[in-house]
Amino acid sequence: MLNVLLIGNGGREHAMAWKLSQSKQLQRLYVAPGNAGTALEANTENTGIDACDIEALLAFVREKKIDLTLVGPEAPLAKGIVNRFQEQGFAIFGPRAEAAQLESSKAFSKDFMKKYQIPTAHYQTFENPALAKDYLKTQTFPLVLKADGLAAGKGVIIAQTQQEAEDAIEQMMSLHTFGSAGDRIVIEEFLAGEEASYIVMVDGEHALPFASSQDHKARDNGDQGPNTGGMGAYSPAPVITPELEKTILETVINPVIAGMKAEGHPYTGFLYAGLMIAPDNSIKVLEFNCRLGDPETQPLMMRLQSDLITLCQQALAGELHHTPIQWDPRVAVGVVACAEGYPNAYQTGQNITGLNTEQEHAKLFLAGVHADAGHFLTQGGRVLCATALAPTATLAQKNAYQLLNKVHFNGIYYRTDIGYRAVERERALK
Ligand code: AMP
Ligand code: GLY
Repeated sequence: MLNVLLIGNGGREHAMAWKLSQSKQLQRLYVAPGNAGTALEANTENTGIDACDIEALLAFVREKKIDLTLVGPEAPLAKGIVNRFQEQGFAIFGPRAEAAQLESSKAFSKDFMKKYQIPTAHYQTFENPALAKDYLKTQTFPLVLKADGLAAGKGVIIAQTQQEAEDAIEQMMSLHTFGSAGDRIVIEEFLAGEEASYIVMVDGEHALPFASSQDHKARDNGDQGPNTGGMGAYSPAPVITPELEKTILETVINPVIAGMKAEGHPYTGFLYAGLMIAPDNSIKVLEFNCRLGDPETQPLMMRLQSDLITLCQQALAGELHHTPIQWDPRVAVGVVACAEGYPNAYQTGQNITGLNTEQEHAKLFLAGVHADAGHFLTQGGRVLCATALAPTATLAQKNAYQLLNKVHFNGIYYRTDIGYRAVERERALK
């Protein structure tokens, strides 16, 4: 029996905690800091320790005799939590800081892809706003501008005109809207197509693919409006056919593993490739994340039948090539409810009702929710994710919205079309 520490406080971590808490191998699960959702799971306790306070986390791991640590968000990984835990001899599943640069620096990630011939959009990196603006004159639009560093999924701007691109450069490089993350920017070619998330577990040498998923990053219906951390997700993503999956492994995942090894930084941990799939089925990498996706994890955990603790142990033992993984064949759809205004400024502290609704094969995963004397209050931009599992995408979508319709708070906002591509495909097949 194992004591497990899970780091993070989002909807992703609630879904991971829900799954971990069902493990027959679990003695006790601790979450740092945790949220109002993780606090409700069986055999699970919030610690309140900040996800980036590595020394406090180490002290906790020592005190509670933690056998395995899992990391939800990118920030502690970029800060070197895995390096530090490994130095101290503690088992932790995630990439070391050097390998986590695949996510923490877009310039690193683009240069790495170029070096190892991983398909991605053409790009240039800039540290000088005047040179960046000059470059715009040679480009066609739309064009994509990305802050180099971590910006919670919001540091990407798709500029339709030169003026918009100039404004974005001004915002990122001169006004420091994303802090130091925008000191360096990547400007890249706009890619058209359908996006999908391809997530694998990596043990340094081998990849164990997860089920495919798709996220809706734009705030509004029809994938319109500003980019967010993710407004909903579903799994599987029918756009990823078995043939395409083979191509992704051969041209993206395996070269990352081999490349990182060649660089002297073998990759261990979850690896998330954000892909653009063109109408001719060719693929290009939009980004790498060195962790599970949020909200992709919510539908993925609903479908995962294998024991998550065992999977991590196998990964730490370098045995992923011998490790089976089982998924529920049904479809899971998760719809995020956020606070009005997100991804820009929003209010917190709104009373939430309807969280105690029980619905079969459906679950509310909480994110920005704070429990206070028996009340649940909003505490973040993305508040929760209503997730449902059903035989078809059409039904899973219907059930997720049915669950979400019971939830109320002032300023609640959500898209009403999450999973529409999978639903349209089902309609077309009828
Ligand atoms: P990233 O954080 O790099 O994945 O970018 C966030 C989102 O911006 C992606 O999920 C896409 O929706 C969009 N995006 C990023 N790069 C491109 C690109 N080159 N072409 C079109 N859309 C992009
Ligand atoms: N859902 C996108 C992400 O986790 O980055």
